Amino acid sequence: MQHFLTTEDLAIETINNLIQRAQLMAQTPENFQSLARHQQLATLFFEPSTRTRLSFTSAMHSLGGTVLGFESSLSTSTTKGESLIDTIRVVSQYADIIVLRHPQAGAAELAAKYASVPVINAGDGDHLHPTQTLADLAAITQYKHRLNHLTLAFAGDLKYGRTVHSLVQALLQYGQNRFIFVSHSSLKIPVTLRTQLMAKNIDFIEINSFDDIHAPLDVIYMTRVQAERFENPDEYEQVKDAVQLTTAQQKLLSPNTLLLHPLPRGQELPTYFDHFPQAHYFDQVKAGRFVRMALIAYLLAQKH
Ligand code: NCD
Repeated sequence: MQHFLTTEDLAIETINNLIQRAQLMAQTPENFQSLARHQQLATLFFEPSTRTRLSFTSAMHSLGGTVLGFESSLSTSTTKGESLIDTIRVVSQYADIIVLRHPQAGAAELAAKYASVPVINAGDGDHLHPTQTLADLAAITQYKHRLNHLTLAFAGDLKYGRTVHSLVQALLQYGQNRFIFVSHSSLKIPVTLRTQLMAKNIDFIEINSFDDIHAPLDVIYMTRVQAERFENPDEYEQVKDAVQLTTAQQKLLSPNTLLLHPLPRGQELPTYFDHFPQAHYFDQVKAGRFVRMALIAYLLAQKH
């Protein structure tokens, strides 16, 4: 059975096809409104979410399907001690496809082992968030018309930020991208990702401040410091404002630079930038709905 736990689960051609299909879905949604008729999608959210859960819900409705699920584990049998494995086995009896968000890294992989329907990873702890990556790739394609030969700056929480991990991993599949990682020294990319970059001989640097960027940027990808992942709240307080996009960095935004953020945002991306033509974070949200439609349709079709 085909699951979507990491972008590496799909061949690059398939990802490109999903992005194209999503564009078509955005242009002529009426042609796709019965693709998932009589099918049910379960959204199992053990962690807070606005965009991801609602965009999956909206996507399934746009395909003519229905949605069931929960948005907090507090109202589920998890509070009675039910394991994730049992919850997945149970929900597999009701739903045709499962979307899971969970605080534990690896939870989606575990779920996929026990599910009898496709599982989509909607974020597993500080690990990966591959459907946000599809939204990001779609937004980059829309505005840059390519996913290779890009210089991208990733800023904020590169340690716990799962959207960063997923997107960087996916962009490694497309040739000749250069990465500039901007973060407090305690929030640098995980060792596993750094090892992957080095093994593939990727051009990347790790710096503490935007002031050290002199190259023209194709993409600036801002992220929030993930308060919920810190064991020690004092440590969060110390680093939460370390990297911010301020008016001083305006010079980094050339007319062709794409300013992205998976949202929700904190102080790192002031609303001041919202009216800039380079700001496309709400277009990322829009792209997310259509790539999720394409992904759901693809995974449901693979079942037969
Ligand atoms: C992200 C997440 O959940 O990882 N949100 C999202 O799905 N767009 C980013 C975040 O929470 O900072």
